[in-house]
Amino acid sequence: MLKGKKILLGITGSIAAYKSVYLVRLLVKAGAEVKVIMTPSSKDFVTKLTLATLSKNPVLVDMFDDESWANHVMLGRWADVMLIAPLSCNTLAKMAHGQCDNLLMAVYLSATCPVAMAPAMDEDMWYHKATRENLLKIQNFGVKLIPVEKGELASGLKGTGRMAEPETIVQFIKDNFFLPKKLDGKKAFVSAGPTYEPIDPVRFIGNHSTGKMGVAIAHELQNQGAEVTLILGPTQLSVPETGLKIVNVKTAAEMYNACTKIFNKTDIAIMAAAVADYAPATVSNIKIKKKEEELVVVLKKTKDILKSLGEKKKKGQVLVGFALETSNEREYALGKLKSKKADIVVLNSLNDQGAGFGSDTNKITIFDKSGKEFNFDVKSKEEVARDIVDTIIQLYYV
Ligand code: CTP
Repeated sequence: MLKGKKILLGITGSIAAYKSVYLVRLLVKAGAEVKVIMTPSSKDFVTKLTLATLSKNPVLVDMFDDESWANHVMLGRWADVMLIAPLSCNTLAKMAHGQCDNLLMAVYLSATCPVAMAPAMDEDMWYHKATRENLLKIQNFGVKLIPVEKGELASGLKGTGRMAEPETIVQFIKDNFFLPKKLDGKKAFVSAGPTYEPIDPVRFIGNHSTGKMGVAIAHELQNQGAEVTLILGPTQLSVPETGLKIVNVKTAAEMYNACTKIFNKTDIAIMAAAVADYAPATVSNIKIKKKEEELVVVLKKTKDILKSLGEKKKKGQVLVGFALETSNEREYALGKLKSKKADIVVLNSLNDQGAGFGSDTNKITIFDKSGKEFNFDVKSKEEVARDIVDTIIQLYYV
């Protein structure tokens, strides 16, 4: 599976660098072409000579020497995957802030290939708030985290923070970047976020949706090989640039137009957006002035996008809706599955702890039109997205 694959391995200053020597050997043995970049401080832990011998390629450390300049842009483009193992706390912080003071950072910042990291640090550093924030930040940039392990640490203490074993790292690289993907060649779209329905030029009716769940689903569909369009309502969320096609919309009507425009050419449509059910019947084109004690805004039903896609749906298309409920959850979710002619409805109840708008976690139940039901625990929105996409694959693509 790794035969002929180009892996760029970044090594930073950490005791765990000794494991990278074996990692290079495993990658080369599996048929990969490996080039190594070291940070200056990593040279205190392992030698260029060992890594150059095992990788069968010159090892790079500096941006330039007396006679030549290391082309960091081309290195990033050469690789199929850039792997940073071990990743020290220091390099992690630089990655989170875009600091470019060595060749490894220059390559990371210009890399167009996917990037994975295998951190290594002491437990207290691992759990420090700054580390947590930096990790979250670079995961949001799209960098994949190879989980740390528990065990003996360089300090002599036992705890969490050991770099994953080389065998685990190789398996992670295979599973995440080189497995044939289940949704290769499929086209999908995901609607996400809220909609804003204008009342006048300065006011609108909106809701608390952030779009996090929909964005996570879009990325997971992409991870599984699908070509994904994200139809995104107004949100503050910064969406990692991973090649998603993003269509920005504001109102329910704009979302309706964007969804119906591409539905025909879509294999999988997932309506994760919190679309306004009602919008002001008329929109004032000047700011409404404060006059009476009461102001009545007449609202008119918006078009139900999911329902209208359900009516247009052709054989082979998979249509997924969401149901966010606060009471009679099961009954309402099953009602929506049927009335909107969806194939799947994902229920989340605001009564469940860890579910709902803005939170980083969610708890879902999936109902399928054939009567199957799948229950899941509270998980991060990324894991929930994986569960949703895996369920779609299991039901429709195996
Ligand atoms: N939906 C939609 N268009 C609308 C309203 C909702 O496509 N105008 C979609 C949502 O994206 C979601 C599903 O329908 O996938 C269910 O949305 P929800 O707000 O839970 O249900 P509603 O049908 O709006 O019913 P109610 O608000 O009465 O629960």
